[in-house]
Amino acid sequence: MDGLCVCRAPVTRAHILGTGSYVPERVLTNDDLAKLVDTSDAWIAERTGIRARHVAAPGELTSDMAVKASVHALELAQTRPEDLDAVIVGTVTPDMPMPATAAFLAHKLGAKKAFAFDLSAACAGSVFGLSIAQQYIQSGAAKRILVVGVELLSRVVDWTDRSTCVLFGDAAGALVVGPSPDPARGILSTHLHTDGAQANILAIRGGGSKHPQSAEVLAQKLHLVSMNGKEVFRFAVRALTDAVKEAMGANGLVPGQVDHVVAHQANLRILEAVLDRLDIPMAKAWTNIDRYGNTSSASMPMTLDELNRAGKLQQGQNLVLMAIGGGMSWGSGVIRW
Ligand code: ACO
Repeated sequence: MDGLCVCRAPVTRAHILGTGSYVPERVLTNDDLAKLVDTSDAWIAERTGIRARHVAAPGELTSDMAVKASVHALELAQTRPEDLDAVIVGTVTPDMPMPATAAFLAHKLGAKKAFAFDLSAACAGSVFGLSIAQQYIQSGAAKRILVVGVELLSRVVDWTDRSTCVLFGDAAGALVVGPSPDPARGILSTHLHTDGAQANILAIRGGGSKHPQSAEVLAQKLHLVSMNGKEVFRFAVRALTDAVKEAMGANGLVPGQVDHVVAHQANLRILEAVLDRLDIPMAKAWTNIDRYGNTSSASMPMTLDELNRAGKLQQGQNLVLMAIGGGMSWGSGVIRW
């Protein structure tokens, strides 16, 4: 598959200088869900690996969650909000259609000089955002960029549809990207792809120009997530396997040289199937889908933050990133930590 490969030897290499994450306080377990729809802990855990997810409080906004994750990442990066050149937010659940959630986030943080925008690549939003940040840092056009993946999916899932409502959770993950202090370390490459022919298998159909908000759109639940789970599963396994091969190939890596897999966690079985095809043991992948469910664009940066804060990342280790979401859009990358 042809796509964008950002793998030239850069003049300045970009690196991740800080990571942060946030989940709302309220936990919804599989047993709680079994009281809402006809499902069970056993079914959900076996098919997806999910045991619980967090749900935002009434009145809590996407930008509020993004602020909390960002503050943690900025602290770790020893970066002041006013020193940020750009704020990029990957989300499909913005505070409102306009303006961008990134504008609210930058304002709430006090990132006065940053330009700010949202990008729509669903669960791949953070990988897309990271790749854009990498370009700005490598070119020297920016010194500090905040990349956030944040989703408040509990407000756009159909809580009567057991095939989707069991999957998602609310969360935010943040990364501060800047020049690497050591040119041998940092983001070695990123690889992005989109196949709009697959747009129908995972979508929120209502609320845009095709189906403007109306009583009919609401009645038909077009404003909520719809998904062909089997197709998403099939497509994700193939696309992610190819994307990780592409990333490893671009950097001359063989599976044995991968120290950590930092994956968007859509479903534990998707991850297992991809790593099996790549000959990378599951032990290399930090998993948290059991606690958070599928948190879409927040998933990859949250996973990296957990690894980072658990002290699992050592200088010189090779991290492989991967994520896929509605579009379908997907991406991969390699970071030398
Ligand atoms: N509890 C109990 N039964 C259920 C549930 C549930 N929560 N959901 C569906 N079922 C039933 C179905 O109704 C069906 O019943 P039937 O045989 O009587 O018709 C049966 O279980 C099997 O349904 P399938 O859809 O065939 O189940 P499948 O094994 O495909 O699992 C799942 C469904 C978990 C959604 C799977 O397809 C999947 O994980 N797909 C990937 C989707 C994904 O990860 N999406 C995340 C967003 S996309 C992203 O992040 C990339």
